[in-house]
Amino acid sequence: MIRKAVFPVAGLGTRMLPATKVIPKEMLCVVDRPAIQYVVEEAVEAGLSEIIFVISRGKEAILDHFDLSPELETELEARKKTALLEKVRRVSALVESLSAVRQKKALGLGHAVLTAAPLVGKEPFAVLLGDDLVQAEVPCIKQLADKALELKASVVAVERLPREKVSLYGVISGEDLGGGLWRVQGVVEKPRPEEAPSELAIIGRYVFFPEIFEYLRRIPRGAGGEYQLTDAVAAMIADGRPVYALEFQGTRFDTGNKLGFVKTILAYALRDPEIGEELRRYLREDLALL
Ligand code: G1P
Repeated sequence: MIRKAVFPVAGLGTRMLPATKVIPKEMLCVVDRPAIQYVVEEAVEAGLSEIIFVISRGKEAILDHFDLSPELETELEARKKTALLEKVRRVSALVESLSAVRQKKALGLGHAVLTAAPLVGKEPFAVLLGDDLVQAEVPCIKQLADKALELKASVVAVERLPREKVSLYGVISGEDLGGGLWRVQGVVEKPRPEEAPSELAIIGRYVFFPEIFEYLRRIPRGAGGEYQLTDAVAAMIADGRPVYALEFQGTRFDTGNKLGFVKTILAYALRDPEIGEELRRYLREDLALL
């Protein structure tokens, strides 16, 4: 069983400034809930009941969002706003166990995951990055967790992207085992397109065994002067430890930049049972789109 999910949410969100000047980028609203809620919902649906946030100063709103809000609830109760009260209660009921640790310095994703080590302990765990939302029949992180338990090894999610787009990601090389599964042989963080070992980009979903922490402690600073998660994965592979990559089933949305964020909102709004149909009509008739 995998129970713990680590959410590194300490990043500054500079690509979405000025929206993220005061509000954490994870709290930007996608249709009717903050982006991070979709990712937490994915983890919970996959059976990950212990949520661990790696935060930094100014990110407390994320924790508050998943906590009880007694004043608001009392107020809604007094005003007999039952439906809204239910929505509010659903969010705090979502997370059974909520904890947080502070990453004091912005030293990279590898450093953020290592910061969670004392809360993770000696068991396999998931890592979910808040920028990536995934719509899938089986939650993306569950697809990874099932494979990780079956193979007893770490598994990262990958997506095949056009070569010119892979420079924003960690990129793997590997042996094709069929069914979207790869045995990873190498991984490079943000390669130039012509130097990328493949078109398989790592997206923000991982399942690790606790051995990853040994490697995170060992690696030097990498791309951008930061401690990179991909460098720890590369070090594990160099040591002969197996790591797999899975081309997950589903659609990923990148909320981490302006265009991606707007596309995400549109896609989620079109699927929304309350507003989807009217939005489709609006796009088609009033805006003469679609
Ligand atoms: C991070 C990782 C990268 C991965 C990406 C997925 O990069 O370092 O390997 O491909 O997340 O979103 P970032 O997006 O934080 O620059």
